[in-house]
Amino acid sequence: MTSPFTLAPLPWDEKALAPVISGNTIAFHYHKHHQTYVDTLNKLVEKTKFADMKLEEIVRATAGAAEAKEKKIFNNAAQVWNHDFYWRSLTPNKTELGGKLASAVARDFGDASTLIAQLAEAGKDQFGSGWAWLVSKDGKLSIEKTSNAETPMAKGINCLLTVDVWEHAYYLDYQNARPKYLEAVLGRLLNWGYAAENLEKEGHAVRAAAE
Ligand SMILES: [Fe+2]
Repeated sequence: MTSPFTLAPLPWDEKALAPVISGNTIAFHYHKHHQTYVDTLNKLVEKTKFADMKLEEIVRATAGAAEAKEKKIFNNAAQVWNHDFYWRSLTPNKTELGGKLASAVARDFGDASTLIAQLAEAGKDQFGSGWAWLVSKDGKLSIEKTSNAETPMAKGINCLLTVDVWEHAYYLDYQNARPKYLEAVLGRLLNWGYAAENLEKEGHAVRAAAE
């Protein structure tokens, strides 16, 4: 997809994540914050070389940009991508950690509760706005945190799951208690099926490159 970009549909009903994340929070987060990143990005890329690029290409092409307009393009493009990725990282349905992902989690963290504890710690430690991530890098799963719109995807790192730790993600439900939001979301909403799909895609990419 190239510009004009559109707001991708949510993968579940707006109220489906309640009471962990209320319908009110999702409504503001999705229709106001996410929509604004999409609209701003469309205005910024109009009649530029970025207008015909895919979203991922724009994020990678503008990552680390020094020029003011390109920085703005990065911030908005990355936030569109990060939010799409965040919605898909969450699900109201119970998902199981299985198959190749379960083996990788056991190999690199010991167990899922250690992974979740480290992801929660990364989210708590992120000073100010940002994101906590489960990624697959150099054949190993690990946890990363990024500030503002920064995203491991910009560096070509395969993202498996993310949690938004900007205040707009939790303030209406948890006020300043980011650790409570993290505990609830990570304990009850993580979409292990999506993480497994993302890990599987990497397998295909590696095999394709080797063939
Ligand atoms: Fe957000």
